[in-house]
Amino acid sequence: MSQRLANKIALVTGIGGGIGRGCALMFARHGATIIGCDINPATAAQTVADAAAEGLTIDSMHPVDLTQPNDVKRWIERAAGKHGRIDVLLNAAAIPPHMARIEDIDYERQWTPTMVGEADVVVLACHYAWPWLKASGKASIINFASVNAFRASTHFGMGPHCAGKAAVLALTRQLAIEGAPAIRANTISPGMVVTPATQSAGASTDGEIRERILARVPMKRLGQPEDIAWAAVFLASDESGWVTGANLPVDGGVMAN
Ligand SMILES: NC(=O)c1ccc[n+]([C@@H]2O[C@H](COP(=O)([O-])OP(=O)(O)OC[C@H]3O[C@@H](n4cnc5c(N)ncnc54)[C@H](O)[C@@H]3O)[C@@H](O)[C@H]2O)c1
Repeated sequence: MSQRLANKIALVTGIGGGIGRGCALMFARHGATIIGCDINPATAAQTVADAAAEGLTIDSMHPVDLTQPNDVKRWIERAAGKHGRIDVLLNAAAIPPHMARIEDIDYERQWTPTMVGEADVVVLACHYAWPWLKASGKASIINFASVNAFRASTHFGMGPHCAGKAAVLALTRQLAIEGAPAIRANTISPGMVVTPATQSAGASTDGEIRERILARVPMKRLGQPEDIAWAAVFLASDESGWVTGANLPVDGGVMAN
């Protein structure tokens, strides 16, 4: 495979999950040095082992709880201390969102954990990585918004999730302005991707929900982590050197509908 990310020091959060794992493996195949993390040691270790089985190296710290500033700091300082800079920060970790309609929402148990699990985990990693990204001089932050940052749901109470993802989208635009020209910052907005998160919620496996979602996907299939990883390779590489503050939908055409 061509070495589109040769010499890139890349931090990837959530390497034990679907999209984080897919991006970490794809980045490693393209020559990047990967330092991953996850709160789940077993799934993170599995990704490290999967990489090794392909003859690739993924360095990982696990468990790291990205809602805890000290954990985030420890992970980033270990990586940056070893390599002297960070070229890419891809924030794939997220805590599955709570679904609740506005009249039923529990502020403490549903709203706050969803905002923390979708937005705070991104803010904290960007904050602590910032000086090391600046040290790179041509760094790239890749965050994950969602189709739901743009589209409301007619079926589910998605207020907390839509707001969490819109926060990531807006934050990333601001990071692009504050970071230029040394740091670029972009979002990918996936449609429904088959990952542990969507599988355990039944969204990508339950026949009825799956068919309902597929009916709105012009490409007539759900996404795979590799679909997202190809877009992330472009945004991480110097090929996208003039792309910042952008949002890239990778959704089988949903946003065009
Ligand atoms: N899968 C989809 O259909 C889809 C669609 C739109 C957006 N997204 C976004 O893409 C990103 C990745 O989604 P995914 O489906 O791969 O999720 P996933 O649940 O499969 O993976 C997320 C990973 O983050 C880890 N994690 C959770 N909380 C953590 C914490 N506090 N500290 C460290 N690690 C933690 C989990 O252990 C897991 O390995 C998320 O931001 C998600 O919102 C996904």
